[in-house]
Amino acid sequence: MIWNILVVVVTIVTKSLETLEVDLAGLVKQTVAGNEGVLHNCSSDQDQVLQQCYIDMFQSYGSNVTSLPPADEDPFKKIRYDATGMCSTYTTLRHCHSDVINDCLNYNTFNAIFGSESNAAYYISQTGFLEFYCNYGNDFVAYYECMQAISLNDLSDTIYTECSVLEVGSCDSVSRTTQCERAVVRKSCGNSAVKSYCQYQKILTHMTGWNFCEYMPCINSSQPRTFFFLIILMYLCKIFV
Ligand SMILES: *[C@@H]1O[C@H](CO)[C@@H](O)[C@H](O)[C@H]1NC(C)=O
Ligand SMILES: *[C@@H]1O[C@H](CO)[C@@H](O)[C@H](O)[C@H]1NC(C)=O
Ligand SMILES: *[C@@H]1O[C@H](CO)[C@@H](O)[C@H](O)[C@H]1NC(C)=O
Repeated sequence: MIWNILVVVVTIVTKSLETLEVDLAGLVKQTVAGNEGVLHNCSSDQDQVLQQCYIDMFQSYGSNVTSLPPADEDPFKKIRYDATGMCSTYTTLRHCHSDVINDCLNYNTFNAIFGSESNAAYYISQTGFLEFYCNYGNDFVAYYECMQAISLNDLSDTIYTECSVLEVGSCDSVSRTTQCERAVVRKSCGNSAVKSYCQYQKILTHMTGWNFCEYMPCINSSQPRTFFFLIILMYLCKIFV
């Protein structure tokens, strides 16, 4: 029963996304620079193989590229618009030299290819989105609905946006941002949405290496529930100071 309802909801949302031909860019979670010290570094041969798999993917959308386009060209845009083909594209990517992709798909590899933090963060953030959308469809729908609910409430929307303002690449900042966002998600959409938010966060922290921190919300289990009110308090203080 529940499963049927879920399937219907997934279908409805997917259908409406298809017919609207929306760009899902607004739902792509941005990432900061990765935790380089803990992430596996692949050999430059492996980096080349991974790079070629991405090039093949862009070429399958008609882009005539011979090296990876930088973030400001937004090469994933065509893929995000292709709601019907996006996931078979992603499956093809994962099966293109899957041994290398499995070992090397992380922030460090893109940073080695580009020598640029922002390009590496872009590729991880876009790839993480595909992984979430294609492999965790039910969680994606719950996340999508919650992001809509948050955007309709001015206070939640402002706090959610503020959550990431101080995020730089460190265990402390990533953990604080995650805790803050998770609190807004819980307050606005309840615990089942928290599970979906955390699924997305797990994918991203896995690719950026922030899952190795001593404490990371969504990765480690303890969850201080009073945190949301602390955040509200901090936020109100900022308004009045
Ligand atoms: C991977 O390479 C980066 C950049 O050279 C370095 O900072 C980092 O410590 C390396 N990571 C590991 C696990 O060796
Ligand atoms: C692709 O780009 C190369 C080099 O920029 C060019 O020589 C070639 O004609 C292009 N091919 C197509 C199909 O546009
Ligand atoms: C949190 O999880 C990480 C990765 O699994 C682990 O290394 C760390 O020790 C955990 N921290 C705590 C406080 O349990």
